[in-house]
Amino acid sequence: MSVFNELERRVEARMKKYKRVIVSYSAGKDSTVLLYLAKKIADDYGIELYAVHIDEGIAGHSDVSRRIAIKVAKELGVKLLGVSLKEYFGITIDELKPKFSLPPCAACGPMRRQLINDVGLRIGAPIFTGHNVNDDVETLIINMFRGERRRFLEPTGGPGMVPRETPFIDVSEETLEKAAEELGLPYKKEPCPYAKLSMRRKIIKHEMATRPKEKVIELQKVMRMIKAFHVTKLKSPRFCKYCGSPSASSVCRVCSIMKELGMLEERIRRTRERRKKFRIEDYIITDRWIS
Ligand code: FES
Ligand code: ZN
Repeated sequence: MSVFNELERRVEARMKKYKRVIVSYSAGKDSTVLLYLAKKIADDYGIELYAVHIDEGIAGHSDVSRRIAIKVAKELGVKLLGVSLKEYFGITIDELKPKFSLPPCAACGPMRRQLINDVGLRIGAPIFTGHNVNDDVETLIINMFRGERRRFLEPTGGPGMVPRETPFIDVSEETLEKAAEELGLPYKKEPCPYAKLSMRRKIIKHEMATRPKEKVIELQKVMRMIKAFHVTKLKSPRFCKYCGSPSASSVCRVCSIMKELGMLEERIRRTRERRKKFRIEDYIITDRWIS
């Protein structure tokens, strides 16, 4: 079976149970392969498909990603929704960087996750992401290294969260890279410029890349077992006291970031306004991007 058939089988198995699906599309290799296959399956099964691309507001990086995202979405004929962190949270990653105590990626991840979950809730569709086994192990280890049990246990499902589907979660990074090359579609090759600020992530990434993929998969199993053991001990689901998002503790990660930035009031106001009068076009800029 070719690598494409195998990847397609994984996406199809998860997609066919839904009527509507959102692909979280960064324009990187993994999500490009995912979007291509999702489009094929959506056409076969008559599933409504959206791609959501988030603009982090990183000069020289986000604009390149956006251009590629528009090009590929047009080429595949997929409806692209563009959302920017600036419009949604009131700040770009470039603006946040000098004010934040951790590397910017530590804020970017939770903000993007929460934003995309919100979009999923509004549209009423699960989120498909292109995470591969290397990303998964990397994130699990980083969260453990941070020594914050709460982040390691951040909920990934349950009330207030749309289903998350990760069809490539046990596929290696190199397999997806080969698949992306074979596709011949453009994709973003440069990583986030701020990723190099995180030394721990860099070391772990290097470790993952130099191990045989069977070892990485084994490590993933161990990490997931540890997580599952602890998650079963968590009491009933909790919600952030400021914004109402699902959270492992009384204040969600995004609200604690906003608090550190002195933007908590603004965060609460924005959330309240969105709840009162929600119009998807207020923050989804499809038409402007897709034209
Ligand atoms: Fe977004 Fe690095 S700042 S991934
Ligand atoms: Zn919150």
